[in-house]
Amino acid sequence: MLRPHDEYSLAGSFLLMNEPTLFITDNTAPIAPPLVPEIKLHLATEVVPLWRKTEEELEAIGVPPPYWAFAWAGGQALARFILDRPAFVWDRSVLDFGAGSGIVGLAAAHAGARDVLCADIDPFALAAIRLNASLNNLELRTTAVDVLGQVSPFELILVGDMCYERPLTDRLLAWLYAQLRAGAEVLLGDPGRSYFPKQNVEKLASYQVKTTRELEDREIRDTGVYRLLAGPGPI
Ligand SMILES: C[S@@+](CC[C@H](N)C(=O)[O-])C[C@H]1O[C@@H](n2cnc3c(N)ncnc32)[C@H](O)[C@@H]1O
Repeated sequence: MLRPHDEYSLAGSFLLMNEPTLFITDNTAPIAPPLVPEIKLHLATEVVPLWRKTEEELEAIGVPPPYWAFAWAGGQALARFILDRPAFVWDRSVLDFGAGSGIVGLAAAHAGARDVLCADIDPFALAAIRLNASLNNLELRTTAVDVLGQVSPFELILVGDMCYERPLTDRLLAWLYAQLRAGAEVLLGDPGRSYFPKQNVEKLASYQVKTTRELEDREIRDTGVYRLLAGPGPI
């Protein structure tokens, strides 16, 4: 079970000015992703230094690959879906798994979720999410705890663009099916990543998401929002 002391509370403008926070504010610009104009995020753009840094340069200064500095197509589509259909999140407890910038969790908070926890294993992502919450005057919580393998108390689990690696996707799907059996609802946003499940999903909406050629092999990605349906039982 996720415990309260594993989490950080974010209240209004309170921010711990630690190193990731300074790195993020120095290396990003606050902009709204194309599909989600309601929400501003600290993102990499052509005009800020992060855009030009290579993975090797970042590694040399102790910064993991900055997934949090981009609004991924799957996250943009899922955030758009939630903002247009707030009934999915209204007054519910919501987990944003692999939150990155927090775009999906922020959309849930914006649309009236009762409680939002953004989970990410990257401390820079957690710092970015707290900055982004403050930027949008929204409240949510963050956790660095690896929630896979834990019992989740959340009514709704949101997953934006996480099916890009086989071992992670296998672990994630096994955990999501267990959460479905425990009564949670699971929504996924995905632009056709290699390991997205081909079965046990119901497509709820699709979007043409404008992306950047720095990240993707095309400028527009056809991106779906799906509900995960009951799948394989415990092995
Ligand atoms: C492609 S990004 C997606 C970010 C965001 N959901 C979006 O759609 O913009 C993947 C994110 O998953 C996080 N991640 C990877 N493995 C994880 C794990 N086991 N638990 C939590 N987060 C994880 C990474 O740190 C990264 O921020």
